[in-house]
Amino acid sequence: MKTLIVYAHPEPKSLNGSLKDLAVSTLESAGHEVRVSDLYAMNWKATVDAADYGPHASSPLKVALDSGRAFDAGTLTEDVRAEQEKLLWADTIIFQFPLWWYTMPAILKGWVDRVFTYNFAYGVGEHSDIRYGDRFGEGTLAGRKALLSVTAGGPESHYGPRGINGPIDDLLFPIQHGILYYPGIEVLPPFVLHGVDRMAGDDYADVAKAWEQRLLTLESTEPIAFRRQNFGDYEIPSLHLKGGLEPAGRKGFGLHVR
Ligand SMILES: Cc1cc2nc3c(=O)[nH]c(=O)nc-3n(C[C@H](O)[C@H](O)[C@H](O)COP(=O)(O)O)c2cc1C
Repeated sequence: MKTLIVYAHPEPKSLNGSLKDLAVSTLESAGHEVRVSDLYAMNWKATVDAADYGPHASSPLKVALDSGRAFDAGTLTEDVRAEQEKLLWADTIIFQFPLWWYTMPAILKGWVDRVFTYNFAYGVGEHSDIRYGDRFGEGTLAGRKALLSVTAGGPESHYGPRGINGPIDDLLFPIQHGILYYPGIEVLPPFVLHGVDRMAGDDYADVAKAWEQRLLTLESTEPIAFRRQNFGDYEIPSLHLKGGLEPAGRKGFGLHVR
């Protein structure tokens, strides 16, 4: 595998830092190639602005269109081009981050905002009576797999079906489906560690073992069975799921999983 690890934590000695280091050593020892985007260490610029699009920035700024024109012309900033190149190089992408306010840290969201440009991650493909662009199962990044490795302070019960935080699959849906599946990436079930702020030092050995196990079985892990957009499950252009396709009682985000 060619694995890109996108890592978002300010402290190398954190749990997240350890999980990232373990992923690098485990995958490399198994003969895989690994590259790391350590966003804090790179001093990653998290905000989109006109400077991102140079001569292609219009006034007033049109973020989507300008990003697409700069992408087409090859004039996106070097940091963004380097990340797009890493995504095209990789066949597997691991995102390592702590759950902060129920989602990814801002620096990682800013990586998505700047790297997933128009004509690269969205705005791709034809629209017709039977197609609505290349997305949700098709797109520039098709053929790749991604995995979220997330640490959370809250215990597992808080994220269960009746838990006060809402189910973890629902919280991660905007990332897994909206950001990763959209440009065509298949998404593996996430590796989530709960209750980590109360973890004792002794617990780390079990955590490390579970993480190594996931890493060494990535190639045989089945992705989440998200429904493909252009293959008959959805009306076009309303993009409503056709009636009766869902298993009895299935509602909410779960509708978009076969
Ligand atoms: C700004 C901030 C927001 C947080 N939000 C959440 C949250 O929404 N849900 C949760 O379970 N834990 C939350 N936590 C706890 C972190 O997820 C937890 O401290 C982290 O996963 C521990 O990993 P680390 O030791 O590598 O930092 C938050 C922590 C911080 C600092």
